[in-house]
Order: sequence, then structure tokens, then C-alpha cells
Amino acid sequence: KKSEAWSALFSEPMSELVKRYTASVFFDKRLWLADITGSLAHAEMLAAQNIIGASDLADIQRGMAQIRSEIEAGSFEWKLDLEDVHLNIEARLTQLVGDAGKRLHTGRSRNDQVATDVRLWLRDEIDLISDLLKELQIALVDVAEKNVDVILPGFTHLQVAQPVSFAHHLLAYVEMFSRDAERMADVRRRTNRLPLGSAALAGTTYPLDRERVAKTLGMEGVCQNSLDGVSDRDFAIEFTAAASLCMVHISRFSEELILWMSQNFCFVKIADRFTTGSSIMPQKKNPDVPELARGKTGRVVGHLMGLITLMKGQPLAYNKDNQEDKEPLFDTVDTLKDTLRIFCEMVGGQLNPATGQKEGGITVNAAAMEAAANKGYATATDLADYLVKKGLPFRDAHETVAHAVKAATSHNCDLSELPLAVLQGFNASIEKDVYECLSLRGSLNARNTLGGTAPAQVKAQIARHRTRLA
Ligand code: ARG
Repeated sequence: KKSEAWSALFSEPMSELVKRYTASVFFDKRLWLADITGSLAHAEMLAAQNIIGASDLADIQRGMAQIRSEIEAGSFEWKLDLEDVHLNIEARLTQLVGDAGKRLHTGRSRNDQVATDVRLWLRDEIDLISDLLKELQIALVDVAEKNVDVILPGFTHLQVAQPVSFAHHLLAYVEMFSRDAERMADVRRRTNRLPLGSAALAGTTYPLDRERVAKTLGMEGVCQNSLDGVSDRDFAIEFTAAASLCMVHISRFSEELILWMSQNFCFVKIADRFTTGSSIMPQKKNPDVPELARGKTGRVVGHLMGLITLMKGQPLAYNKDNQEDKEPLFDTVDTLKDTLRIFCEMVGGQLNPATGQKEGGITVNAAAMEAAANKGYATATDLADYLVKKGLPFRDAHETVAHAVKAATSHNCDLSELPLAVLQGFNASIEKDVYECLSLRGSLNARNTLGGTAPAQVKAQIARHRTRLA
């Protein structure tokens, strides 16, 4: 009976297989609120422009209110025969209010309707994601603030490089998430434009007031070319690219948490409710949440590939290919939101309403971090810098320290444990004050340039983030 949804032009009904293949209602029904919101704005404008009557508008508003409560109550009957969210809602409207329902589609096509719905929906989701990104940054800054003086080995190539403040390390992620938030804000601006009024592809013969609809919907402007308005999904691709980068940042952090939680590091613990046991090994507490987050990053990056490939071969204007934008986009939003939510709680803890304090966030093992930083000659660069200050060219200082490290290695001790006389054997200008620069804290304090790991710099970073996130 599908032919009846279109016109008398069709000589046979759509096959059942094709009906299922082309239908999108079981996933695009989640656009229902955007669809109703967009339709109401369109109808108000049609009435204001005398394209439909005031009583038609009232009927449409009454019908849509009813549909809204049916959907919210779960009693709305979604029909596969009606293909998608748009036709389902419009058919029910006509059933409820008659001719006024049939007038709603004046000067509109599903092509500009769906583009509008996706943009409205995504805009609101971006706002939720931006809030979560802010929450995660605050959680990280909170943990950082408590750990300015905690020292962990900084790595390059996963080999001990130089000591850094644990707070400094966490604040690196705050920088990443702050850029993710900036990207989201930027994508939002280009998402929040109105395609409605593009009609099928060429615009429409009715005297629409598109600016008015944009204003009603809180959009920042109208799409200026009707062909572009109905056909491009670059905003969705851009969003998924921003989401992918954000997931990549989460994935890197996850990788570190997994390492830090292993028995060979013991740097941190996450609360038991974020870990799982093993069905065979009784001693296990596995970091499933960070592992899954790392895994789900691949899924989101996959959606980016899917969407960008979806777009690449499409001639102007609308093609049904675009119906395939929804599942990857929806799944990207769901995955990113769930991941951010869980990380906010895993890092920052849960608010205890009785105390007003957050509890059960990440636990830091400062002693294990510092012990690890004391292995691997993390202050070798400091000794080279010390010799440079005594007048040695850097390259010579580098070579001298390599000999000192070799000697310390053969004595199985740290550079700071070599007697002064032994150190002086490498360079006569070395004096007692060398031990200050060979200590972890001395090394940290010395890195007092903007963006460095000295506690004063770290505190300045924290203060800057506090102001920004307030
Ligand atoms: N369900 C369709 C989509 O998601 C709506 C637009 C269909 N337009 C059309 N002319 N077939 O893109």
C-alpha cells in the first residue's frame, strides 16, 4: 500500500524488502522533538505571511501538542509504512486536525526538513557535550590542585626522561579538552544555520520569511544557497571529527591510566565500581572502563570515515544517501557523552550530598610515583645544565654527564648518590651545590619558564583554568 503515501503515479506497491531497506523511522524517530519544533516555527511563519490561516495555525499547534504528549507517554504508534519520523508525525497530525495538517508542508520539503531537524538536534547535543567537557576539565583541575608537589617520571618513548609534577601532567589533558571544547563551540556556529525554506532544492514560490523562522529556532542565520542547504552534511562531519579528536584524547588518557594501574606502576587507583573482576583469576581488578573508552575511540573514528565517505560521491542536491548520516552521528553523540560522563565521575568522584564533597575519584600513590622518578636518571639533563652554567658548551656537558650516568649505572645507584669526589672526577668545576640540582624537587623548581613544570608555573596554570572555567 506504500504507493498511497506518494501519489497515484505508482502502479504497484513498494515491495516489503524495499520498504524495510528505505525506512529510517526506527532510528530517526529520536529527532521527533526537533521535527515538531521546526514544524511549529514553519507554521507560525506561514500564518504570519498569510500563506495559511490563523485557524490552521491553531489546529497545527493543538495537534502537535497532542502528538508531543503521545510520544512522551510512549503511546505514539510509529509506523514503518510511513518511512521516517517526518511522515509519521505529519500523518498523525492530519489524522488529528484534518486539512490544517495537510497545509503544514506548504513551501517545505522533507529535504530541508530533515537537514533542519538534524541541525537543531545536533546543536542541543553539542551544548550537552560542551557542559560535560567543562565538567571533566574541572575534575582534572581539582585533582591537579591537590597534587602540585607530587612528582612522577615524565616519559619520552616510555623511557624515564625528566621529573614532572603530577598536576602538570593532568593539566596537559585539561589543555586538550579545552581545545576540544573550542572545536565544539566552533562546530556549533556552523551547525546552527537554517536550511528550511530551501524546499526540495531550488527554493519555493511562496513568500517565506526564512529569517523569522531562524530567529524563532534560535539559529544564527539561514543557509544562503538552497542547493547547499539541503545537500551538505559537512557540519555533521565536522562534529564527528571534533568528537574523534576528543575521543583520541580520552584514549591517550585511558592508556596512561591502564599503565599506571598495573602492578608494575601502582601510580593510581580508580574506584572499584569502574573496574571488573576476572571469572578465573581471583586477584584481578581490571581497568575495563578506560580499556573500553580506548576501544570505543576506534568506533567513533570509524563513524568519521563513514560520514566523510558518504558525502564524497554525491552530486547536488539531496540524495537518499544522506539518510545514512544518522546512525553514525547518533552513535557518535551517544558514545562521546557516555564516555565523558563516566570520566567525569571516575576522575572527580561522585558528590556526596551529606558532605557536599566529591568522593571516590582517582587515588594517587605519590610515593610510588616518586620512587619511579628516582629510577632512570631523570635529573641527568639538570647536571648537564649545571655544567653549562659553569661554562661548558652544552654538547660537552652532555658527553660528560653520559660518562657520569655510565658510572652510576655500574654502581647501581642514582647520580645524586655518587660522592662529590667521584662527580668532580668528571668535571672539576662541580661543587657541593650540585646535589640540589640532582634532586627531583630541584629539577622541578628549575623549570620555571612559562608552561614549565615548576610548582609556581603549575599553580599559575591552575589559576588560569579556574578563571576560564568559572
Ligand atoms: N528520511 C530522509 C533522510 O533521512 C528524509 C528526507 C527524504 N527526502 C526524500 N526526498 N526522499 O534523509
